[in-house]
Amino acid sequence: MAVDYAVRDGIAVITLDNPPVNGLGHSTRLGIVEGIERARGDASVSAVVITGAGRAFSGGADITEFNTPKATQEPTLHTVIKAVEGSAKPVVAAIHSVAMGGGLELALGAHFRVAAPGAQIALPEVKLGILPGAGGTQRLPRAVGLETALNMIVSGAPVLSEKLAGTALFDRMAEGDLLDDAVAFAKQVGAQDGPHPKVRDSTIKHPNAEGFIQFARNSVATIAKDFPAPHKCIDAIEAGVKNGFERGLAFERECFLALVQTPESRALRHAFFGERAAGKIADVPSSTPVRTIARVGVIGAGMMGGGIAMNFVNAGLPVTLLETKQDALERGVATIRKNFEAQVKKGKLTTEKVEERMALLKPTLAYDDLAEADLIIEAVFEELGVKEQVFRKIDEVAKPGAILASNTSTLDLNAIAAFTKRPEDVVGMHFFSPANVMKLLEVVRGEKTAKDVLATVMQVAKKIKKTAVVSGVCDGFIGNRMIEQYVRQALFMLDEGALPAQIDRAIEKFGFAMGPFRMSDLAGNDIGWAIRKRRYQEQPELHYSRIADRLCEAGRFGQKTGGGWYDYKAGERNALPSKLVDDMIVAHSKELGVERRKISDDEIVERLVFSLVNEGAKILDEGIASKASDIDMVYLTGYGFPLYRGGPMLYADTVGLYNVERAMRKYAARPNGDAWAPARRVTELASQGKGFTS
Ligand code: 3HC
Repeated sequence: MAVDYAVRDGIAVITLDNPPVNGLGHSTRLGIVEGIERARGDASVSAVVITGAGRAFSGGADITEFNTPKATQEPTLHTVIKAVEGSAKPVVAAIHSVAMGGGLELALGAHFRVAAPGAQIALPEVKLGILPGAGGTQRLPRAVGLETALNMIVSGAPVLSEKLAGTALFDRMAEGDLLDDAVAFAKQVGAQDGPHPKVRDSTIKHPNAEGFIQFARNSVATIAKDFPAPHKCIDAIEAGVKNGFERGLAFERECFLALVQTPESRALRHAFFGERAAGKIADVPSSTPVRTIARVGVIGAGMMGGGIAMNFVNAGLPVTLLETKQDALERGVATIRKNFEAQVKKGKLTTEKVEERMALLKPTLAYDDLAEADLIIEAVFEELGVKEQVFRKIDEVAKPGAILASNTSTLDLNAIAAFTKRPEDVVGMHFFSPANVMKLLEVVRGEKTAKDVLATVMQVAKKIKKTAVVSGVCDGFIGNRMIEQYVRQALFMLDEGALPAQIDRAIEKFGFAMGPFRMSDLAGNDIGWAIRKRRYQEQPELHYSRIADRLCEAGRFGQKTGGGWYDYKAGERNALPSKLVDDMIVAHSKELGVERRKISDDEIVERLVFSLVNEGAKILDEGIASKASDIDMVYLTGYGFPLYRGGPMLYADTVGLYNVERAMRKYAARPNGDAWAPARRVTELASQGKGFTS
């Protein structure tokens, strides 16, 4: 049963009991209405308390029901709230831990609210591409004021309950046991004559509501751009301010029903569940015991190692940072301090916190100092011989049971593990640069990696606030293996008729944070060059445009050399189209005997995104990634793929795999078509009318 009913001291206590977060699915909704009815019919009951069992009051509507018949099956949340609000016996919501979305809307329908301190109060619907759909845009402004409510609704950010004490949202902050307090309060209000207060009956007071809403609208326009939900949040609030509660409520409902059908909302819900699903590994049950990680060792104090170390000290874990030379070590530590101090300047950190974190850092030149570490992460030069030396040394000094991780982005993790006598303790932890900022962590599972090692690393990732995605061993793992195909297409299009600025513009308009050429100039064109040189040796049959090699031969490595695909003015990061490079591209086409043609923006987007999709499908075929949503999480959190499109695999589903496959076959028949033979999974799913994520 999703709801428990009990009578305590003449008070009916309705307890939502739908783990994990008391989502308001159909059976929970039904249980609440039944509870209200039961309390009405029980003469011994004077009032009702609604609370939540376990870790939440309620996390809101059950998102898994969206776009299914259950979502609209009566009693809907509207009906539930109507029953609560219309109850002749006063209803008290006893709020603790989490009251979000529909959960908060339910509480706003109660006559009174008692809250425990520390509860997270939010209307986070906007983060799912929708707006509060059960009266939140109407009742919250009446309870906490227009400005606070609008900020909460448009940002979706949680606010601690104690910060809202003193507003009409809470009648009481519980001091001792929440339920005892709420029951005592309910007895008090149950003894009073009705009618009992309803949030809907109060007015929204603001000296200049119209002006404030316009101000909010302007601010949202610059941030949200075409993303519809934040705009609709404001529209719905405004409708209530101008036209009153009932009309505001009807308008809110209309907007909710429209937004829940949008591809943006589908994408954001996919990302919500994708993030949680990424943490689950099919053959590593959640009951797998984990190893204790109390001290971390990081080898290499360069940009990567320093960034990695920052993650752990930020999470309060002591880090031993190892370098081979004193000056490199000092430089690394100084850079870490500089990065922290930059955060102080931005007001994100206090100087005390910086000192606390720096005190957790123990710089050293001695491998022996790693003996105490429970997790050792190597971030040294990306060359197998160098990794071999490092791993042989770690193997000598690390204590039994320590986890030995490599930050390699391309090398064979199984070969690295074989340098040690304990390959089962070896795992890949591929951080993305800057490692203290980027959310993505590819966790590379070697052939022999032990299950408890994987479970531990996934838990550690949570602690340092990363989105961890498990990848099998292959060149480039999930993210870089796919991006190589994307870059190959971008380069082919230069040969065929496009210029860097056009390609970047088209894909940035699609929503990518940065196009391939601006990105490459930022990262350094020499990185790709080194990989291609290796490819030419290892896979001479691989067809590649040579234009990027020409660029590197001319010393144009990107921003760091003052020029790459674009020109850069000294000290500036603005990418300026380069006549020299554009001429070089045109000359290269001529050399190849290619007659340049106009390439449409649609073709650019299709070739770039579908090349990711095809490689992603191969990665699934080979079992390198275990589910399509994992691939999407890699692209959303590590490669700037637009969140509101949900990642390449969901995007392909949105386009329809039948259409995707047709496009692939079309490109396969053209010059530079060798990568376009559709992966087995694309063909199979397309023929069955299915998608990667359905
Ligand atoms: N519906 C369905 N499942 C939900 C859910 C919801 N509203 N909220 C959380 N869950 C599930 C998660 O998918 C996860 O499932 P899993 O264990 O199978 O992976 C489980 O609950 C635990 O979630 P977390 O791992 O996120 O647990 P945390 O303790 O870290 O966080 C939370 C809890 C703060 C509630 C967080 O889950 C969260 O932010 N949830 C979303 C809240 C939300 O967006 N609510 C609005 C829903 S839309 C709505 O209410 C519409 C209404 O206006 C009509």
